[in-house]
Amino acid sequence: MTIRCNIFFEADLLQADPMVPSRLPLTIRPARFDELAAFARELTIAGTSPAEVLRRHQQGEQAIFAFTRNQLVHVRWLVLRSLWLPDVGVTLQLAPSEAYAHNEFTFPEFRGQRVSPAVKSFCLQWLRSLGYTREIVHVHAANFPSLAVQKRVGYRPTKTVWSFFRPGHPEPFVLLGARKRGSPFLVPGRPMLRPSLVNG
Ligand SMILES: CC(C)(COP(=O)(O)OP(=O)(O)OC[C@H]1O[C@@H](n2cnc3c(N)ncnc32)[C@H](O)[C@@H]1OP(=O)(O)O)[C@@H](O)C(=O)NCCC(=O)NCCS
Repeated sequence: MTIRCNIFFEADLLQADPMVPSRLPLTIRPARFDELAAFARELTIAGTSPAEVLRRHQQGEQAIFAFTRNQLVHVRWLVLRSLWLPDVGVTLQLAPSEAYAHNEFTFPEFRGQRVSPAVKSFCLQWLRSLGYTREIVHVHAANFPSLAVQKRVGYRPTKTVWSFFRPGHPEPFVLLGARKRGSPFLVPGRPMLRPSLVNG
């Protein structure tokens, strides 16, 4: 059995967030559709296959790219609909004003330069300008670099979820802990088993 602990965090977009500058000169922007194919090799290194990139695009997910001197240094994905989180074993049900960010990846040679905090800061401003009020992320409890980023940008921890992956069981047993209520709204199980939860 594999046990996984995930911590959910959120940023309140109605409050002022710290703008964390990177140590690198960055150009940060939403990726265009043609760039998803042009950067297929880099996206694969970041853990997203071309087929998965296409699926995400078709589902309306938005990739955010950060470049330094025309070199892609970071990618991050934004989702605006409810979705199944396989590494947690829950469906994250988003309200219309909520966004979820995942698969943040700074290419190894550019880590430690505050690229990720700067991209997060950009996303929070961008989402706020579009009328969103909350951005949600989750982090594996052992991912110390990512935990450091959430803290630096002022994300608030909201929920801790324990997932027990058992041989022979397609979905983990999930412990939502004491703070079951409140944001984010998490439901154990896949959305396809609960069609009413899928609003995308
Ligand atoms: C997590 C991640 C996105 C952080 O990106 P980043 O642009 O390096 O962010 P930062 O520069 O703010 O560094 C964050 C932490 O990484 C660690 N770090 C610093 N230099 C590093 C280096 N050269 N290599 C690896 N990690 C380093 C430090 O713990 C740092 O925190 P600190 O500055 O408070 O000490 C990046 O490490 C990454 O892509 N990891 C693999 C994918 C991943 O885990 N994504 C998050 C999923 S939730």
